[in-house]
Amino acid sequence: MTIPYPNPQPMPVIPAVTPPSGASRPRVTFLGTGYLGATYAICYAELGYEVLGFDVDADKIAKLNAGEVPIHEPGLDELLRRNLAAGRLRFSTDIGETADFGDVHFICVGTPQRADGMGADLSYVEASVTSLAQRLTRKALIVGKSTVPVGTAEWVEQLVGKHTPTDLGVEVAWSPEFLQEGFAVDDVLRPNRIVVGVKSEWANGMLYAAHKGVFDLAATEDREVPLVVTDFATAELVKVAANAFLATKISFINAMAEVCEASGGDVTQLARAIGYDPRIGNRFLQAGLGFGGACLPKDIRAFQARAQELGAGEALRFLHEVDLINLRRRTRVLQLAADLLGRRSGPAGPDLSGTRIAVLGATFKPNTDDVRDAPALAVAALLHKAGADVHVFDPQGVENARRAVPELQYEATITDAVTDTDLVCVLTEWADFRNADPVALGELVAGRRVVDGRNCLDAALWTQAGWEYRGLGRP
Ligand code: UDX
Repeated sequence: MTIPYPNPQPMPVIPAVTPPSGASRPRVTFLGTGYLGATYAICYAELGYEVLGFDVDADKIAKLNAGEVPIHEPGLDELLRRNLAAGRLRFSTDIGETADFGDVHFICVGTPQRADGMGADLSYVEASVTSLAQRLTRKALIVGKSTVPVGTAEWVEQLVGKHTPTDLGVEVAWSPEFLQEGFAVDDVLRPNRIVVGVKSEWANGMLYAAHKGVFDLAATEDREVPLVVTDFATAELVKVAANAFLATKISFINAMAEVCEASGGDVTQLARAIGYDPRIGNRFLQAGLGFGGACLPKDIRAFQARAQELGAGEALRFLHEVDLINLRRRTRVLQLAADLLGRRSGPAGPDLSGTRIAVLGATFKPNTDDVRDAPALAVAALLHKAGADVHVFDPQGVENARRAVPELQYEATITDAVTDTDLVCVLTEWADFRNADPVALGELVAGRRVVDGRNCLDAALWTQAGWEYRGLGRP
């Protein structure tokens, strides 16, 4: 008999508890209706829970109550409208109402990078927990979901202790989330694991009841969702460790891309070849312009800052390298653009004045309208700074991109973006770009030169259509 390693953990025994509101299933609230909170609120109503979403932003709440999702996330609109109509879901700016309603309150507010350093800004966590705690009139469970520095749950527990009478017995737990933009609905309804950090049997039971809908759905689909019950610190660390691992995997393959560039290798074939080893795996091994978005970049920085505070800074020093490799990919695209356009680079970088460049893609990845820390938009800004006349098109992200970087020229179609350009840079791997016809596009441009910043184009097809093609980490 072979014993699998690591040994599978038996499903923990979970005590049954009655929600303090007297309802048969815990009523759940989500504080903060950004990407995380809005998606969770809507999906938990879909799972059958009575849900209230809270936010201080009256505009956002009015939109959600009117059936309008403030973000682009496939499938979410329909679920929002269906659950509003079913009466299981509503949104409010009233914290008193939120406190009265809920048995389990999930804290889903943002934890952005601090303006004055690499650490996480916890002011939204503090504000939401304090205002909620001050209005609680019965026992409840406050559960952190936001990504936070390890130690935050203990601090939240102290805050709650300060603002609620001891006899209410309000408790705290931590349960990180792992949703990916573009797949958020499925990631919430069908997560690949649930992690809970708890200190009491009651919190464990209440949190299990608040996730039972997820386990039940899995059972009807003949799946299992593993549950990891752990302490506060581990629960907090799971999230940042997972993101640090993903970021490292991407930077690893991008480091290989640099070596391929220096030696004439092809990183796409290298990635395929090593990815067949199941210990390595082929996912998150796509070399290109690197990672961006609202999580990976800020999370690896906040993780390093926190480790430093804890005296474990040495252990995460490699994450600084991971960050640098990631950022170097952006300047590499600038360099490739200059090479293709025959421009020399000086100490201040290349001079691209007098050139016209199409940038296809602004979002940090496809199937989202999110441009936060988007490598594509950062490169578009670099090209503009180098003097190029930059024309940007993105299927969903133009509005957000225009707000973030107003000095660029934004176009309504691929055709408008590429017409009369000397160079096309594909910087987000939208299907529209991957499937674009190089022959048809070739008729529109002034010069057939393309930088494939995501290694997402069929290089042979583009070359056959007369394009001078450059990928990242490819000969
Ligand atoms: C990430 C984590 O995946 C998710 O679990 C966590 O909860 C939040 O952060 P997200 O920010 O939605 O999710 O994006 P993800 O799909 O992870 O992609 C992050 C970035 O890495 C994107 O810019 C993407 O283009 C890039 N990436 C991803 C690569 O460059 N190569 C890859 O192989 C994979």
